[in-house]
Amino acid sequence: MNEPYGPEAPRPISSTSSSTMKMFMGLLTLFIVAQTIGTVLFCLYLHMKMDKMEEVLSLNEDYIFLRKVQKCQTAEGQKSTLLDCEKILKGFQNLQCKDGATKEQPKFEMQRGHEHHERSHLTHKNETSVAAEKRQPIAVHLAVKEREKAGSVLEWKETMYAPKSSLISNQEGKLKVKEAGLYYIYSQVSFCTKEVSLAPFTLYIYLHIPKEEDRLLLKGQKTQSTLKSFCELQSIRVGGVFNLREDDMVFVNVTDSTKVKYSHGNTYFGMFKL
Ligand SMILES: *[C@@H]1O[C@H](CO)[C@@H](O)[C@H](O)[C@H]1NC(C)=O
Ligand SMILES: *[C@@H]1O[C@H](CO)[C@@H](O)[C@H](O)[C@H]1NC(C)=O
Repeated sequence: MNEPYGPEAPRPISSTSSSTMKMFMGLLTLFIVAQTIGTVLFCLYLHMKMDKMEEVLSLNEDYIFLRKVQKCQTAEGQKSTLLDCEKILKGFQNLQCKDGATKEQPKFEMQRGHEHHERSHLTHKNETSVAAEKRQPIAVHLAVKEREKAGSVLEWKETMYAPKSSLISNQEGKLKVKEAGLYYIYSQVSFCTKEVSLAPFTLYIYLHIPKEEDRLLLKGQKTQSTLKSFCELQSIRVGGVFNLREDDMVFVNVTDSTKVKYSHGNTYFGMFKL
């Protein structure tokens, strides 16, 4: 009946088939895309897994190497294994050397520290020796020195067995202290009197401070009373403790230095730090 339209009849069919085709194609594309993404993800996963595996494998290798070293380090193990122990031990030593190079620094530091410690110990020792030197008594004992020119200030010289100190210097009869502190200062002057004089023979110990007036520290006196023509020997002794500052000087002067006895042991001057 509608023969001429016959070929038109399958058109809806073909249109439906093309739409299913289109759907199929869409699904296929979707599938392919999903497959691709899946593959990429799987590859990524695999790659990561491989990395981990590699790590584990290298650890395993390390473990095996250490086991080999352990085996090779014992004489029995060396005999029993077929391993090339020499090579393995050499490799291990090389590793240790490399490791040692990095560890060398702290060791070196330690050594240096030790050296430093030693050095500080040395300086400490030196300090102690200095301290010991300082602990050595600061003391001098001097004998009177015969002088050519007249003067009231007596001069002094070192005597045998008597202490001397670098911290007390003798400058023309004046003893200068380099260290402040308490000092015991003493002196004895022996003299002989022939003629009667009303003025007593006097021994003084003065403190001399530069740019200041001399201050009397000690004084000893004897009145000459005898009328004898020969020398009557007398001695005056004084001594006391004084607080001296650095560079202070002390000296002895007498009223008449011509009467002073210069024989050994008669006239002396000394001081020491307490
Ligand atoms: C103390 O130090 C001096 C140098 O200042 C040195 O010559 C001496 O050997 C040292 N003494 C000691 C005991 O270390
Ligand atoms: C002893 O020295 C003091 C201080 O320099 C002085 O004042 C005094 O006159 C001197 N004594 C004699 C006897 O020269």
